[in-house]
Amino acid sequence: MRAFDLHAQTLLQTIFSARRDVRGKHFQSTPIEDEVLRKILEAAISAPSVGFSQPWKFIIVQNVAKREAIYNEFVSENAKAAKLFDETPLYASLKLEGIKESPLNIAVLYQKPTKTVLGQTTQKKMGEYSVVCAIQNLWLMARAHNIGVGWVSILRPKKVKKILGIGDEYKLIGYLTMGYVSEFLDEPELLKLGWEEKKTLNEVVEWV
Ligand SMILES: Cc1cc2nc3c(=O)[nH]c(=O)nc-3n(C[C@H](O)[C@H](O)[C@H](O)COP(=O)(O)O)c2cc1C
Repeated sequence: MRAFDLHAQTLLQTIFSARRDVRGKHFQSTPIEDEVLRKILEAAISAPSVGFSQPWKFIIVQNVAKREAIYNEFVSENAKAAKLFDETPLYASLKLEGIKESPLNIAVLYQKPTKTVLGQTTQKKMGEYSVVCAIQNLWLMARAHNIGVGWVSILRPKKVKKILGIGDEYKLIGYLTMGYVSEFLDEPELLKLGWEEKKTLNEVVEWV
């Protein structure tokens, strides 16, 4: 059995704490080296998956016209979102994506099963949750390479799939932006801005 020591545990915790959602101006245009991107994607596909179904697919979006179209989709959806927050100045001031500033975008898809998946017989969303596990691995390994990732969810999946020419056998799980950064904030931006408070362990753990 491979055993990890305090150094490894501390390092892992440091990477967890230093991971941030990166947006807009924090991205630099420096391209991500192929070898580094490969390592990040390898980390993603080492995630756990229900029945070892590995139902993920990664579409690397470099094409400027497609990214422009996805950005326009964000702008229109975000205008609707602003209304839900009563057009508050704080919401309007938030930069909630880095689609054009980041050197690459990744659409992460769930491939719908064509056969019965072990473990997914009762709870049908387990495959989709597995893809989220892959995204988290990707996010953390990117941070370990000093690369920032942003998750952009103010997008209609149907529109994104159309822009990228993705078929019905796939479901969009996450649309990510990725690149080297000018800085990683030391805390979540929404915490710094007072949008949300950080929950403590006591608030979220219950023993029964
Ligand atoms: C499923 C998911 C969707 C998210 N969607 C967005 C988004 O559309 N725009 C955005 O700016 N941040 C998005 N985020 C990032 C969160 O706002 C961010 O993770 C949170 O504020 C904590 O900050 P941190 O990731 O820097 O620790 C998303 C995060 C997750 C996990």
